[in-house]
This record gives sequence, structure tokens and C-alpha cells, in this order.
Amino acid sequence: MKTTSRGFSRRGFIKATAGAGVYLASAKYSNMFAMSNPERPVRLGFVGVGSRGTSMLQTALMLEGVEITAISDIVPERVERAQQLVMESGQPKPKGFTGEEDYKKIADLTNVDAVFTATPWSLHTPVMVATMKAGKYGGTEMPACDGYEEAWELVETAEQTGMHCMLLENYAYMRNVMMVLNMVRHGLFGELTHCETGYQHDVRYATIGDQGELLWRAHERYLHHTGNRYPTHAIGPVSQWIDINRGNKFEYLVSMSSRSLGLNHYVAKNYGADHPNAKRQYKAGDVNCTLIQTANGITVTLYYDSLSPRPVDFIYRIQGTKGIYSGTLDKIYLEDTSPVPHQWEDIEKYVEEYDHPLWKKYGDIAVQTGHGGSDYLCMRDFVEAIRHQAAFPIDVYDAATWSIITKLTEESVLNKSKPVDFPDFTRSKWRERKPLPIVNS
Ligand SMILES: NC(=O)c1ccc[n+]([C@@H]2O[C@H](COP(=O)([O-])OP(=O)(O)OC[C@H]3O[C@@H](n4cnc5c(N)ncnc54)[C@H](O)[C@@H]3O)[C@@H](O)[C@H]2O)c1
Repeated sequence: MKTTSRGFSRRGFIKATAGAGVYLASAKYSNMFAMSNPERPVRLGFVGVGSRGTSMLQTALMLEGVEITAISDIVPERVERAQQLVMESGQPKPKGFTGEEDYKKIADLTNVDAVFTATPWSLHTPVMVATMKAGKYGGTEMPACDGYEEAWELVETAEQTGMHCMLLENYAYMRNVMMVLNMVRHGLFGELTHCETGYQHDVRYATIGDQGELLWRAHERYLHHTGNRYPTHAIGPVSQWIDINRGNKFEYLVSMSSRSLGLNHYVAKNYGADHPNAKRQYKAGDVNCTLIQTANGITVTLYYDSLSPRPVDFIYRIQGTKGIYSGTLDKIYLEDTSPVPHQWEDIEKYVEEYDHPLWKKYGDIAVQTGHGGSDYLCMRDFVEAIRHQAAFPIDVYDAATWSIITKLTEESVLNKSKPVDFPDFTRSKWRERKPLPIVNS
């Protein structure tokens, strides 16, 4: 086994430090060692600057001590637009790339410490793998990987290179879910028993183009696949509440999908019943419902409901022996303290005491960014972990575990809801890994 100049074997080192929650880069990557100087800017490369990439670029530009040094997109105008945004913020023009595989060139640049990707899903793992192999930190939009092979490739590349990557799951930084995490840590809900969560968001508008054509979401989520195709916004916060990969583990799931009507109706209504995409057979059911069992007996209900006319509702319900919180209602009931038995209580009373420390500190600036301000805290955690060489709060094991739900639910749906086991990407390290601290770095 290879050893670093500090005398650690890389894989052994990750093993040794995974529980401690801190890891350092291999000495081979001298640029990363320079990062131990917290005064030095963190230099980011962006791959994919469409809608999400551009928004996260703008968020990164709000952070102190961050430089954007490289941009890549296969649409040259988007690269130019991103370069312009960087220059308008007072930074030098970042190097621009437009080739399909130019993310490899970005990973190799000496003035890039980390690469963030907001491309279509099929590129997330290839970009992250190239990034880690080049000795850089990676940050990816979700899902991080598609299927067993990519999930293990992600984990093994991280272990082999010593360069972990973070899933930038911004929904884990929403104010209410972070407050609930704080409450869980303070024992308000007692011993936990059940959570309910779901990506319940009508995204038909982002799935079908303005001529009725299928956009990449249609191809990657609905046309050829079924099950829960976008699980991480929903399962991420819940996984943190119940210590998945850190003392607890997802054991298995069972999943069922409804029939598929939503996209046909949407295309027929907006582009005519004769449009070919109004008549096409989509594999994904409109509503997918999944049940997950965990090692310590906490169960999770997980919904995926994105093709029906409906308001947004991520549910985010948690309950235990002492009470319950409902994100849908944004209300709480605690048996020993709520004023009226069996009746919901407004959450406001608890905010002063349990609002997450990061929200207390950065809330005013965070709310200027997307997704209720969660984008800011998420990008900030990514950058600060790199700057201080701290562990990512959502690491490669979480990225693989949360993302593999796409595959496991599909397997279950296609086999009469049979139970499907979760792979243990931590290879039993979940037993020793410590629960996520309230504040990461
Ligand atoms: N976290 C969130 O809240 C959130 C919100 C929206 C989207 N997303 C995720 O962000 C990602 C992008 O979504 P989007 O809505 O921005 O899509 P988009 O189509 O607007 O952007 C994707 C960009 O990737 C570019 N691209 C494609 N191939 C490329 C390549 N080989 N190299 C470089 N660039 C390439 C495209 O040209 C496009 O500009 C998806 O994974 C999506 O799931 C996350």
C-alpha cells in the first residue's frame, strides 16, 4: 500500500481519521498543503454554468477569501456570462473552457483547489473522479452518482486519492431543518422513531421545453427510469437527524410507484394532444412512495412527487418518544412542554433558543441567496472545509448513500416492491463514525 511522505498509508489514514471527523490531503498534493494557511483564498473552478451553476457562482462570489479561477460549459455564451460575473465582482477574468471533457483540464490547473460541478447528472461522477484524481477537492450537485458502479467509483476514488468530495445538498442547510437538527441534539424529541420526507415539487416546467421537447431532466429522470429519481433534497436532512453513516445506517427499502400520466397531460395541455411527447410512454410513475428501515429501528417514509400540479411540500416530519415536528405545518408538539395536550404549537417560541448557530450568525446575508438562504450556508461550508482542511459535513459516503436511492427504489418498484438492501459504502465505519457536530468547521 502506498504511503505519503508523512508515513501514513492513504487508505489507512482515511480509515484512522474518518471517525475523528478530520482528514488531511496527501503530501503529494502540495497545493492542498498550502491550504493550511487560512489566509490564502480558496480557488474554485466551476463546471456547468447553466441555471444552477450560475446561481452558485454568484453565491460563491459573495464569500470572502474565494477566487474563481476557471469556468467550463459547452455553451460558450454561458462561459462568457460567468466570466463577466466574476470580473464584475472585482476578480481577474477566470480561464474559460468549452470542450465536453475540459473539466479534466480544469482539475489539472495549478491555480484550482477545488472543482464544483452543476452539470446534468450523468457528468457528476466523471467530473468528481477526474477532480479527485488530480488531487483536488470536489463539490457536486445532486445526485452525486447514478447506480452502483458510479457510487463505488466515487467512494473508492476518494479513499484511494485521499481527496474527498462534498455533495452540496443545500436543503440540509434550510433554516427549519437545521433548527430541528439542533433540537434533536438537545433531546427535545426523545428517542427517535420515525421521519417522513419528500421531494414534492412540480417540476414539469423544467422538464419540458418551450416547444414541448424533452429537456435533460425528462431523459435522466422520467423517460427510461422509475422509482425515486431525486431523493437527496428530502433524505439529506433526515439522514443527518438520524445519524446515517454516523452510528446508524439505512438497511433496506421497499418502494412503489403510481401510474404515469403527468407529463402526457402537461404536454397535451400546453402543446396539443398530437404532440409526440403527449403520446409517449414515460417509465416513471407520477408519485413514488418508499419506506426505509434503519439499523437502529427508526423508519423513514420518502415521497417523490414532481409531475403533478401541486404546491411545494418537503414534509420534513420527525417524531420520537417525547414529541413531533412537522415541516409541512412548521409546527411542533412536545408532550411535556406544549401548552395544550394533543395540539400543535407554533415553532416561533423555540427559534431563539434552537435556531442553528450558523443561521444566527449568517442568516441576514444568507437570505439574499437562493433556496431560502440555504445556498449560501452550503457553499460556505464547502469553502471553509477546504480552507481549514476539515472534513466535509456531507462527505463521499453520504453522497453515495443518499444518491443510490435512485437505483434501489427503481429495483424495488420493478420487482413488486421487494426489499432492496442498501450497500454499506462506509464498509462498517458507520459504527464508529461520530454524529455530525452542530457546527462543522
Ligand atoms: N441544489 C439545488 O437546489 C438544485 C437546483 C437546480 C438544479 N440542481 C442540479 O444542478 C444541476 C444542473 O441543473 P440546471 O438546472 O442548472 O441545468 P442547466 O441545464 O441549466 O445547466 C447545466 C449546464 O451544464 C452544461 N454542460 C453540459 N455538458 C457539459 C460538459 N460536458 N461540460 C461543462 N458543462 C456542461 C450545460 O451546457 C448547462 O449550461 C443538476 O444536477 C440539477 O439536479 C440543483
